[in-house]
This record gives sequence, structure tokens and C-alpha cells, in this order.
Amino acid sequence: MEDKFYYMLAPIENMTDSCFRTICHGADMTFTEKVSFQALAKKNPFTMNKIKLFDDTPCMIQIIGQRELLLEKFLKDFRPSRGFQGFNLNLGCPDPEVVKAGLGCALMKRVSKIKRMVETIKSFGYGANIKMRLGMNQFEKDRKVFLNLIENVDADFFVVHARHGKETYADKADWSVFYECVKTGKNIIANGDIKTKEDVEKLKNCKGVMIGRAAVENPLIFAELKSLEILAREEVKAEYERLLRERNSHPKYANHIFKHIGEDFANTK
Ligand SMILES: Cc1cc2nc3c(=O)[nH]c(=O)nc-3n(C[C@H](O)[C@H](O)[C@H](O)COP(=O)(O)O)c2cc1C
Repeated sequence: MEDKFYYMLAPIENMTDSCFRTICHGADMTFTEKVSFQALAKKNPFTMNKIKLFDDTPCMIQIIGQRELLLEKFLKDFRPSRGFQGFNLNLGCPDPEVVKAGLGCALMKRVSKIKRMVETIKSFGYGANIKMRLGMNQFEKDRKVFLNLIENVDADFFVVHARHGKETYADKADWSVFYECVKTGKNIIANGDIKTKEDVEKLKNCKGVMIGRAAVENPLIFAELKSLEILAREEVKAEYERLLRERNSHPKYANHIFKHIGEDFANTK
């Protein structure tokens, strides 16, 4: 990673498609929503569409799965396009269906398997990083499952969403964990409830911050936090609408975004 503090847009299913990622000016990294590499290995057209990149916006493809042979099969056929920066392994999803299948935060304990998956991605010459929670539940958080993973896996960086798998957004993210994560010497990206410059200031010992819901409400948040020149909201909204048309985006993405985006954007003509 470069010697700088990173501002990253979080993956948010059904919202952060390529059009939304492009309008988040100032984000140093973006991520596709999670896609199953089993489906990618089978070249499922719906899934393949989700990892299609259209421009130079830096983007990690977020994959979820555990069958290593299928990961290899997908990687053999994968051809990187503009903007592609590497793969992000989803070890954070708390969805009960995902957990039941042993995926998302249920996979966090399987460090040998995660190591092999990271090594497989790297053996194809691609960057590999991880997005995780603090464990599947309070018990795993107390046992420091997250530290064991960070210490033993050679990923380029670790995005730590500071909640365990049983916590909801009503529970506050526990930023106190970042201190011990950073002490490992690995690159740690802080995630969870980050919204303001004051928040970022408190997390400056990390390698960067990842922002999800606050960006969906205001895609200019990255430019604002970095004190960059801010484009007019109507310009950004017009750009988004143009991209939705040009890229033939599924209407669900715009519908979800316009449900969440701030009124000053939504009401802009
Ligand atoms: C509706 C929704 C969908 C999400 N989809 C994904 C996803 O596909 N992959 C992922 O790693 N995290 C996903 N997340 C989690 C976010 O990336 C992020 O970790 C979380 O929202 C905390 O960050 P925030 O407080 O800045 O929003 C999702 C979150 C929400 C609310």
C-alpha cells in the first residue's frame, strides 16, 4: 500500500454498483458488493455483471465462498480490466443464511483455509485483502478471533468492521479494538459508524477508514473529509443519472440509493 491514509467506500449490497462508486469522488478505494466465487467459476451472467468495471475508479472485487478449487477455477479465467485493484475476501457477512453455510463471519476462525485462499489469489499475481467483523459472537470477540486472523494471514490490508456477528446497527461499533489490531503491525482499515472529520481524527493510527451508510447518504463525503474541491450536488446527481443510463444499471440500485441519499441530493433538479 502507498504511504498515505486511505478513505474507502464500503461495499453495500444493492447500492454501491459501478455508477455509485464512480460518483464517490475522492474515495481512494471502492469495493463491489459481495459476489459468490462459486457463481463466478460457473460464469453466471448475473454475477459476472456485478464485477464488470467501467472506468478507472479504483475497485476491489469482493468475493465470498470457501471451495478453494472453485476459487482457482474462477481465477484461471479471470481477466482484469480498468480500475481493478485486487480481491477482497468477505469474512464479515452476519446474514443467518450465509453463516449457516459456514461463510462470512463464520469462516473467520478457519485461519489455515483463509491463508490458503489469500495465497491462491496472490499466486495469480493479484492483491488480496480481507473485510471482517470481530468474530461471530461476543464469545469469539472475547477470544480475540479477529487478532488471531490478522496476525496469521498475509493479506495486504484488513478492513475491521468493529462489531461481532450478533450485533446490529443499533449496537455502537467498538473502536477500542483498533488499537490492538494496529499493534500487530498490519495495515488496518477502520470501519463502523464513521461519519465526520472528528471521527477520522480519532482513527488516524489506522491505515485508513472505510465508510458505508454515511456515503450512501452523501457520496461527496470523501471529498468533504479530505477537504477537496466539492462539486455541486446537481452536477453529481446528473453524473449519476447519466451513468445509470449508459451502464444500463438495474433499477434497484437507483431506487435504493434515492431512498437513502440526503434530501439535498434527492430534491436537486
Ligand atoms: C444494506 C447493507 C448491505 C451491505 N452489504 C455488504 C456487502 O455486500 N459486503 C460487505 O462486506 N459488507 C456489506 N455491508 C456492510 C458495510 O460494508 C459496512 O461494513 C457497514 O455498513 C458498517 O459501516 P458504516 O457504519 O460506515 O455503514 C452492508 C451493509 C448494509 C447496511
